Amino acid sequence: MTVRTMKPWKRALLSTRNQVKYLFRRCFRLSLGEVRLKPGANDGLFTDPKTREREEQLLEHYHFDRWKHKLGRVDYQLNLYHLDLMDSVRHRLISLGVHPVRLVDVGSRTFYYAPCLYHFGTYGGLELKSICGIELDPYRRYRNGYTAYDYALAYMKEIGDPVVRYEAMDFAAYEQSYNVCTMFLPFVTEQALLHWGLPLRTFMPQRLIEHAYEHLASPGVLLITNKGPEEQRALHELLDDMGIPYESRDAFASPFDPYDVPRYVTIVTK
Ligand SMILES: C[S@@+](CC[C@H](N)C(=O)[O-])C[C@H]1O[C@@H](n2cnc3c(N)ncnc32)[C@H](O)[C@@H]1O
Repeated sequence: MTVRTMKPWKRALLSTRNQVKYLFRRCFRLSLGEVRLKPGANDGLFTDPKTREREEQLLEHYHFDRWKHKLGRVDYQLNLYHLDLMDSVRHRLISLGVHPVRLVDVGSRTFYYAPCLYHFGTYGGLELKSICGIELDPYRRYRNGYTAYDYALAYMKEIGDPVVRYEAMDFAAYEQSYNVCTMFLPFVTEQALLHWGLPLRTFMPQRLIEHAYEHLASPGVLLITNKGPEEQRALHELLDDMGIPYESRDAFASPFDPYDVPRYVTIVTK
């Protein structure tokens, strides 16, 4: 049964269950300590010649090769995917004069894509000033016992540059200014949020987008991805309601795409 067709009392029950678990992890912050990133066998991961060629281009342009021997297979592919995605907006950022880059990422989870954001900012001809990942629920635990926070610390340690930070907080309370804001898969439906494990009181897509836009410097770019066209439509309705103009880019096509449902891209320029 989906949340949309769920009876109100069931929806409330799911939210209450999520709330109890969410508060528990926030209070106890149980951690197994430092995560050791396990490199995967990433040589020869892609067999298609065009994909390999694109991999080589990205590794070379963004000096990303060292991560090939640091990240697990899934992480490595996801980083290439996000690097490819960021690369698709690079010229836009340059032509707008978004420089030096102060990037904030909203809802960073483990911040598994911090390596590619860092290399994009550093080697994309944009002069990186700062990157900050913001996560409301960083003590969410994975099956191996480690939390999202533990992972984020491991990626940042490996990057080894204090310009990259990760803040455990509600983005609605983030007051610093930035000129690039990435929102990869923000919750725009109650259904997605409840299935993820958060309580309904944390469902505030309009407030987060409004906040992201208000604090975005000009020139600046807000880059949002959604899972599938339906979620993107929900986002566009919110943007329309707020009177924020946007460019819809449909599904992002990348040879590194690992997802069952394509990510749809929306760009807001200020
Ligand atoms: C669907 S996940 C996407 C995670 C990640 N961006 C990715 O692409 O894998 C959405 C994330 O947003 C976080 N989130 C939700 N509300 C937030 C808020 N108000 N401030 C910061 N993070 C929030 C959630 O905890 C969750 O980790």
